[in-house]
Amino acid sequence: MTNRFALGLVLAPLVVLGACSQEAETSDDTLVIYSSRHYDSDYALYEAFTDATGVEVEVVEADGDLLIERVKADGDSNPPDVIITVDSGRLWKADQEGLFASTSSDILNQRVPASMRHPDGHWYGISSRARVLVYAKDRVQASELTGYESLADPKFGGRVCARSSGNIYNISLLSALIARWGEGRAQDWASKVAGNFARDPQGGDSDQIRALVAGECDLALVNHYYYARMALDTNEDVSNVEVYWPEADPGVHVNISGAGVAANARHPELAKKFIEFAVSDEAQKLFPELTSEYPAVPTVTYDNAVLDALGAFKADPLDGTTIGSRQEEAQRLFDRAGWP
Ligand SMILES: [Fe+2]
Repeated sequence: MTNRFALGLVLAPLVVLGACSQEAETSDDTLVIYSSRHYDSDYALYEAFTDATGVEVEVVEADGDLLIERVKADGDSNPPDVIITVDSGRLWKADQEGLFASTSSDILNQRVPASMRHPDGHWYGISSRARVLVYAKDRVQASELTGYESLADPKFGGRVCARSSGNIYNISLLSALIARWGEGRAQDWASKVAGNFARDPQGGDSDQIRALVAGECDLALVNHYYYARMALDTNEDVSNVEVYWPEADPGVHVNISGAGVAANARHPELAKKFIEFAVSDEAQKLFPELTSEYPAVPTVTYDNAVLDALGAFKADPLDGTTIGSRQEEAQRLFDRAGWP
């Protein structure tokens, strides 16, 4: 056997893992996972789970918001056991749609910090990412920066790059700022940031870093792992790019990828076992080592030179449910701010 799994199309891929799986056939005791993640860490996680338990895993992937639609559409024919998605906003949305069951687990409650899980066990964080500032070292000094506020500083007029406001990472950041600062201050911040753009928001987070490298802007807002991946990629030159931890009030915005037992899971006990496995030391190392995310379990040690170099930071411990519940308000503020 040379290839233990193969990834298909974005909307309807079927991945079956298991020592003997040669074809995509779901048996009665196959664990069905619906995920909006598509990272090496996750494929390694599925494989490790199968190795550890002998349970085959079928994975259905759908991007972002489409995952919820996919779960609803497939609800009767092929219901998920586990639902995995990125960002508190999407976890919250999936929960509002009633897609998660309530799970109680001493292992999960002990290993996953309270701010990284749903209060009634609807979902549990498996990894996290920090929303950081990146700057061009030859044009900006770290001493000029103060936190997310810097993006709104008049001294950076015409020098800031960010992706569009419809992106969930920006919506969740603004949701957190609304919760911490209040609507007025958050609105003022968003308006001033929009006034500082070097160009209309476009592309993903990696594109903002490339724009810094190309000299199109001097300061940008991205998730840390895009920088880490580029720094680890010999085809990218980010030697003039530095990460700044926006630790000033309210602290660095940390967002969650999470997994929950599906409401109509056929194998709820197995689903819980999978999520418990995902927060084991063995599995948690995969997120920093293969995707440069942070593990959800703070005590886990791992090998990632770029993350080591970035060092520790002061996170805003705001819980994922609060971040999730402010999404609509955040989008309204962005619209009013003129942040396209
Ligand atoms: Fe991402």
